[in-house]
Amino acid sequence: MTRATLFRLVAAMLALTVVISVVMVQIDWNGVAGSTEADDIDLLLNVMIVLSAFVYSIVLVMLGYSIWRYRAKPGDESDGEPIHGNTRLEIAWTLIPTIIVLFGAGYSWFILDKIEAREGDRLEVDVTAQQFAWRFEYPEQGVTATELHVPVDRQVELNLEAIDVIHSFWVPEWRVKKDAVPGITTSVVATPDREGRFQVICTELCGIGHSTMRAPAIVESQEDFDRWIADQGGGEGQAGGGGGGGGAEGDLAAAGQQIFDEQGCSGCHTFAAAGATETVGPDLDEVLPQRSADEIEQSIIDPDAELSPGFARGIMPDTFEDALSADELDTLVRYLSENAGGGKSGAGGQ
Ligand code: CUA
Repeated sequence: MTRATLFRLVAAMLALTVVISVVMVQIDWNGVAGSTEADDIDLLLNVMIVLSAFVYSIVLVMLGYSIWRYRAKPGDESDGEPIHGNTRLEIAWTLIPTIIVLFGAGYSWFILDKIEAREGDRLEVDVTAQQFAWRFEYPEQGVTATELHVPVDRQVELNLEAIDVIHSFWVPEWRVKKDAVPGITTSVVATPDREGRFQVICTELCGIGHSTMRAPAIVESQEDFDRWIADQGGGEGQAGGGGGGGGAEGDLAAAGQQIFDEQGCSGCHTFAAAGATETVGPDLDEVLPQRSADEIEQSIIDPDAELSPGFARGIMPDTFEDALSADELDTLVRYLSENAGGGKSGAGGQ
């Protein structure tokens, strides 16, 4: 290969790198950015795209050149010449990828270190993932909810736990992502800087209801956040025990629905009284009216003992006996039996 040919090949590689990079970087891969971490991560992705385009261009140009330059002449049936290696070439193709990979690793480390730095006034939220729902606890405010609410422009640290299998926490607009793994607590930080209604998405294939494992992520002003905390009965006010009104019936419906939501039942089941419409598990409005309270309790704590037709064993978690206190289990069973099928009042009763 002459020096002029080498020069032309390198020029072709660089030109192709530029063309691919310009096209690929134009594409809005990650969508709307909604956190202070997003710009760093989007830039990191673009740098990686350019590096990949460079490597791809080397391969493509050399492939094209070899096909054209070393093609067999018509009628040539002879074998190719044996090759004994080329020390300079081998050093080059070891050194260049090593430098590229080390640069990528170092740069990613730098970005991760920067965006994971904890700030003193961060909001802590304990996140519990289970098939197929999310639960958010605010230890300082004394609130548990099935929606993630956070104030804008304040760092939030999410401590992730999983009850059953591996799940993964992701709000696409915040960019950051982290697995929730049974047995350990992982944590992820984000500083949302765009108000609005987003989605927590489970991004680890965790079972049949994986695609429905989502929860609202609401980024709001500090005032709206404080108001929401107060509405949930938390914060400095500590609203505590149920305020007047409602009576026993209303209390049961509210308490039962809260347990139903917190335990993630609505992630899998249809139950009109709770506004739940999922179809991973049996439709409770259909199957529960035929069941006694004892049978309903049995189905919650030992789901595989008796399966509804068309549903497989091992889908519903068998963790509820541990997750629920005796009182909570009793409340949930009464709530379910009294509201199933649109509420057949009097059934079971006390
Ligand atoms: Cu949880 Cu996918």
